[in-house]
Formats: sequence, structure tokens, C-alpha cells
Amino acid sequence: MTSFTTPHLHLPDLCSPRPDLSSPDLRTIHNLFTSNYYTQTRCNQLLDSYVRPQLLTKNLGWDGSSFYNHSSKHVVEWNKTPFQILTALFLFGSEIDYNTILSVLGSENFELLLSWKFIKKTHTTLISPYSGAHQIYPLTVNSTTADTTALILTDWPFLNPDLPTQFAVMPVGYDSLELCVLSNLEKIGENRSVCDICCGSGIQGINYLLNNKNERIKVNFIDLNPRALSLCEFNVAFNNLNRDEHTFTVSNCWSSISQKKNDVILCNPPFVAVPETENEVKHYYADGGGDGNNSLKKIFSEVIERLNDDGVCLMVTELPNVLSSDKLVRRFLGDKEGKVDVAYVKEDVETIEEYSKVRNEEMGNLISVKEYVSGVNVSEDVGFIVDRALVLIKVGRKEGEDKLHKFESGQKEVKEYEFGADEPDAFLGEEGRRFLAEVMK
Ligand SMILES: C[S@@+](CC[C@H](N)C(=O)[O-])C[C@H]1O[C@@H](n2cnc3c(N)ncnc32)[C@H](O)[C@@H]1O
Repeated sequence: MTSFTTPHLHLPDLCSPRPDLSSPDLRTIHNLFTSNYYTQTRCNQLLDSYVRPQLLTKNLGWDGSSFYNHSSKHVVEWNKTPFQILTALFLFGSEIDYNTILSVLGSENFELLLSWKFIKKTHTTLISPYSGAHQIYPLTVNSTTADTTALILTDWPFLNPDLPTQFAVMPVGYDSLELCVLSNLEKIGENRSVCDICCGSGIQGINYLLNNKNERIKVNFIDLNPRALSLCEFNVAFNNLNRDEHTFTVSNCWSSISQKKNDVILCNPPFVAVPETENEVKHYYADGGGDGNNSLKKIFSEVIERLNDDGVCLMVTELPNVLSSDKLVRRFLGDKEGKVDVAYVKEDVETIEEYSKVRNEEMGNLISVKEYVSGVNVSEDVGFIVDRALVLIKVGRKEGEDKLHKFESGQKEVKEYEFGADEPDAFLGEEGRRFLAEVMK
């Protein structure tokens, strides 16, 4: 049963009214993408062979490393084939003229996508970004039977004037993809219960379901942002999964969740360390409080009792003081039973000064770097912070020795864009995936 009902939001939702999630139109539109080979690999090839070099040679201010960190008007020239046009519109947010779009979509699909707010009409062109329309990310799911492409509808990564910032849904980032990679290693068998907490677009839960399609698995999707759940529920239906078998719950961490036990908990909590300032723009999906650990602490505090005996929690997050981060996780668990594994990439560890400089720039230099550095050192649990890094964590309910796993990837020489991630990421490369499979057993 679906426990989620869309609250009345004064927000641009998916559309008003929402698409009928039982309608065959969802299949039609999904087929439109898949029959035009809108896959992660092909989109990446396009990025590598055309878009990235074009943008680099023209020095247009985008390093081309991302599916979506684009500048819309610059990719217009290459949209020739239906595949390229779909990619330009839904992945790069390019401006495309009305007749070109009509020729690819056909008028019925065109009207449908307009009504669902996947695209938005302007007087001469259609512009996806800046308009309340959505991005569609193609995720390859390596299922046991055959590879499939999941289509993940989410928001664009930049501020949208139509959308209060805190309700924006997280675009697919390399952290989102890393958690998918980690969860692909975990097979749990039939009739199991999975919880995707901080689900956003639902990418990890959906990846898990498609990856284990032969099993009966129920996913409880949980998020604080009701709009995220609305998109998540759409994505479940869009990917031809039976949403009546899953639940969609608005909850501040575990506070509204009655189900006590799970076999797998998936979690990518908001983890950006953001010192309190008066002008800051809050993102539900990014802001982890002064040291980045606010939500993570709440989730870990109950995680052991929310796992079945052989259950695991898989998390991607940033942690301070990487060399003792396994001990920090142990503290957050409240010294309960269990086993902690933390994996990090050596090259990705940043000093707190480097971290503060980059994050502060991202936020528009709201405060000085010095203030930022002192602002992110606030937590009593953590005390003084020397560095930070993105880590993958596995917490098992069964007793075992805690471990910290360092991956030295030499990734600077390796091209790691295989997944079309927004940044190069060693754990998304082949060597990194092999490392994870070995250490996170
Ligand atoms: C980093 S995003 C991850 C989204 C998605 N799982 C992904 O990987 O793309 C964090 C998500 O946590 C949600 N969130 C933030 N604070 C929360 C809280 N206290 N309880 C539940 N969800 C929360 C945000 O709305 C956002 O969707």
C-alpha cells in the first residue's frame, strides 16, 4: 500500500494535477527514451566525443565533466538525431526550437510532456532548465538478467526561481552513483525489506529493485522533502515498478517510521558542512549543519536496532578526520553491537582549509574562509577538524572488527567518467569497484 499522499504544497510539483501514475502513457514515454537508446553509456559517449571537446576548445566556461553542469545555449549545434535531441533537452538542458522537438516527440507526446512539466514552452523555443521543467538521468542497472536503463526524473542542479530552494530535489551526483555501486554488491534474496532513507529522487531504491528484479523486495522510501517523495513515487511508476508494493513516507529521519526492522538500509544523507550565516540558502539535500553530520548522527543513532540480524546499512557521506572516521561512526552508533567498514579514496581527502574554500565558493563566498573553517569545527563529538573526505560506509548488525579501507587509485591519470558522474570518481571506475567488492564483503 502507498502510505504517501501528496500534501497540498504551494510549490510547483511535478505538475498540477500529477500524471496518473497508472496510465499507459508512462510506458509510452519511457519507450520513447529507450527506443532512442537514451542510455548512460551512449550519453557519456556523446559527452566524450562531442560536447566536452567542443566546450573545452571554445573555452565556454564548463569543464564538460558533467551530464548536467551545462550552459544550455552552447550544445544546440550538435542536436541532429532523435537521440541527440532528447539528450540535449533532458540531460544538458539545451534550448531547442519547437519544430525540431515536435519532429522527435510527435504532437501527442509533446503535449503529454508539456502537461507533466518535463518541458516548458516559451514564445519561440522550449527551454528545459530555468523553467520548472525536469532533468531525466539515464542510469544503467546491471541486473542479473539483463542490463536495463532506469530513467530518473529529478531537478536541475542550479537554483530555479520557481522553486523554493529547500524543496529542490537532488540532481544525480557522483555520491548518488557511488551508493548504487556499493549496494550492487549486496544481494539479499527473496521477501526482504529495504529502506531508502534520504531517498531524494529514489535513485538508490529503484536501482536496488531493478538490480534484484527476480526477488520480492519491498522498499520504504523516506525523505523530509515531500516534493522529493512526489518525484520518487513518479520514478517508481515510470520505471514500471509496482508502487503499491512500496511505501513513500515523509519523515524527519526515523521520527515517523514505525517499521522497526530492515534487511538493507540505504542512505545518502545531506552532508555538506555549512556554518550558520544569516544569508545562507538552505538546501534540504545538501545542508548537514555545522560539521555536516546532523542527519547522519540521527540516522546512525537508531540504525542497529532497525536492522535484522544479518542486515546492513550502506551509506555514502562525508566525514571529518578520515583516519579516525571508523571510530567516529562507532561513536554515532552509540557503542552498540555491529561492525563498521569505512572506505575512502586517498586522493580525495581535503584539508579543512581546502574544503572550506571550495564549499564557500560554491555558496557564493557568503563568509570568509577563516570564518568557514572555524564554523565547520562546531561539533562536540568531533572537536577539531583537520580534513574531510567522501566515504562509503557499511554497518553490519553482526559483530566484527571495525575497519578503515584506503583506496589509492592513481585516478588522476585514469578517465573515470564511465558513469557520467558530475566529478571524476575512483570508486566509479573498474579498479575502484573491484576494491569495494573485496573490502566491503
Ligand atoms: C544528499 S541527498 C540524497 C538524495 C538521493 N538519495 C541521492 O543520492 O541522489 C539527501 C536527501 O535527504 C533528504 N533529507 C534532508 N534532511 C532529512 C531528514 N532530516 N530526514 C529525512 N530526509 C532528509 C533531502 O531532502 C535529500 O533528498
